[in-house]
Amino acid sequence: VPTSQPLRLAVVVGSIRRGRFGRTPADWIAEQARQHEAVAPDVVDLADFDLPHELRSFDEDMPDTVTELAERLGRADAFVVVTPEYNHSYPAGLKTAIDWLGGEWQAKPVGFVSYGGVAGGLRAVEHLRGVFAEVHAVTMRDVVSFHDFWEKFDEDGNVTDPGAVGAAKTMLDQLVWWGTALRDARAVRPYGA
Ligand SMILES: Cc1cc2nc3c(=O)[nH]c(=O)nc-3n(C[C@H](O)[C@H](O)[C@H](O)COP(=O)(O)O)c2cc1C
Repeated sequence: VPTSQPLRLAVVVGSIRRGRFGRTPADWIAEQARQHEAVAPDVVDLADFDLPHELRSFDEDMPDTVTELAERLGRADAFVVVTPEYNHSYPAGLKTAIDWLGGEWQAKPVGFVSYGGVAGGLRAVEHLRGVFAEVHAVTMRDVVSFHDFWEKFDEDGNVTDPGAVGAAKTMLDQLVWWGTALRDARAVRPYGA
């Protein structure tokens, strides 16, 4: 049954590094999403979950942190993954979170905010597209990407690049279209059944 409730959007902070920058673009995109009338954002910071590196099979008991993250992401209708680029790809901690979970990603859209040096984190994004395809998520074409990110935010975490707000709206509009369409579709028919 279709609903007109705002889309529940999880903004996933992909860097868990001490002293990381990642929280700044995550809080910024969450604020952009808050201004979009169709979206209710929730910042899900992977650093709060301290996921073990050693995975377990699905028939074993899950660590509490995994269960908590699964519940938080399972509630979401859509995701924005905020990612840096480490050695031309995504951070290992983000991959660990994707690998621990399963159906929470399924039949939902994923948009990206990336940041880095010359490539603006886009190499991480392109690698993540293949990973998210495997967990049955759909990735948005348009990315909000900050190259030389240290020049793009002021001390208060505001973006100084005038194009970024428009880029965020483009990505969020795509996410709202897919998120709404897939939420309606999941309500009518379980995915894959
Ligand atoms: C292990 C490691 C590898 C990195 N590799 C890249 C890279 O390939 N491309 C890039 O643009 N920046 C790279 N950087 C620099 C990051 O863009 C920069 O450290 C950024 O702050 C990382 O995001 P974070 O602080 O949110 O973790 C790397 C940083 C680390 C720690």
